Amino acid sequence: AYVIALPCVDVKDRSCVDECPVDCIYEGRRALYIQPDECVDCGACEPVCPVEAIYFEDDVPAEWGDHRGSNADFFGTL
Ligand code: SF4
Ligand code: F3S
Repeated sequence: AYVIALPCVDVKDRSCVDECPVDCIYEGRRALYIQPDECVDCGACEPVCPVEAIYFEDDVPAEWGDHRGSNADFFGTL
């Protein structure tokens, strides 16, 4: 699945939401999150984020830590 990383926090541009064909991007308090079981890996959301917050799960820059972890906390999965 794709994940939304640190740059989204307190930005929440929401351009990604309009692009997602399966509506699997959900709003949290300070950032948005991609539901990993619903994401179809289409990649449509990635280029539209103005702060480049969206990455394929294996490609999240290491300095931002494991956002699969915070993503999983949000959805209560993993
Ligand atoms: Fe939605 Fe596609 Fe982005 Fe997954 S990769 S969150 S399905 S737009
Ligand atoms: Fe956040 Fe970028 Fe979407 S700032 S809400 S991941 S367009």
